[in-house]
Amino acid sequence: MTQPGLGRNSNFDWDEFNPESYLKHNYAEARKDDIRFVSTIGDFFLEQLGGRNALRGVDVGSGTNLYPALAMLPFCREITLIERSEANRRWLEREIRGYTPVWEPFWRELAVKERYPEVGDPVGALAERAVVEPGSIFDLPRNKWEIGTMFFVAESISADVEEFREGLRRFIGSLVPGAPFAAGFMENSQGYKVDGRLFPAVAITDNDIRDCLKGLVEDDLRFAFESVGAHPLRHGYTGMILACGRKRQDDTETET
Ligand SMILES: C[S@@+](CC[C@H](N)C(=O)[O-])C[C@H]1O[C@@H](n2cnc3c(N)ncnc32)[C@H](O)[C@@H]1O
Repeated sequence: MTQPGLGRNSNFDWDEFNPESYLKHNYAEARKDDIRFVSTIGDFFLEQLGGRNALRGVDVGSGTNLYPALAMLPFCREITLIERSEANRRWLEREIRGYTPVWEPFWRELAVKERYPEVGDPVGALAERAVVEPGSIFDLPRNKWEIGTMFFVAESISADVEEFREGLRRFIGSLVPGAPFAAGFMENSQGYKVDGRLFPAVAITDNDIRDCLKGLVEDDLRFAFESVGAHPLRHGYTGMILACGRKRQDDTETET
């Protein structure tokens, strides 16, 4: 994994990522850290967007996580879920048609906030508004989406720090100037196993995120942290980082 080139994104067979196993390990029981994250994301989007709606949203590398999409629901007429793995896309296609009770604790956390109750039936709304698309973070179109999320992707799809940086910059680049975003990261991750299969990571901290986003986002970028605590999700990481911000209004950088 540490040999140059071997830990790159294209060296891993993402179609072999087992969605059921990942879901079971990560989300079958709603973790307190994820619940706190979804609450913070909801507050952030409410603060940034107020009464705005009918936006086009994107979640990059959705895997088997619907909480970022749920957090965007009141503000969006369409949410594109971009996934490189065919196995994860199949899971997403099925799950968005009528999501399972796994996601209820996350919606409950959001539903007490302003605007979220307007959604009415979140299961039906997600089925109507979410679209699953094949794609790679490295090929995202520029200046397209008006709100975006990306959870545990840029740092968890490669062991190459340059790919982490490129992925994160591409995600921001895919948003229109001023668009709010929320992104989650594993801190100091050494890589992770899904159903016995090893997937790569870059060991990053908030300083790496800040450094990578310099010049691309407004100065009010903010962070929330969850340290591993007594009940780590797995071995080989020190915590979770949530970054919330807005793409710079005067986006002078045209290519990443
Ligand atoms: C650690 S998982 C995170 C999944 C989910 N977002 C979550 O919050 O749990 C990384 C995800 O990135 C996807 N992925 C891998 N390479 C990618 C790429 N080049 N572009 C977009 N997604 C990719 C994987 O298939 C997987 O679903």
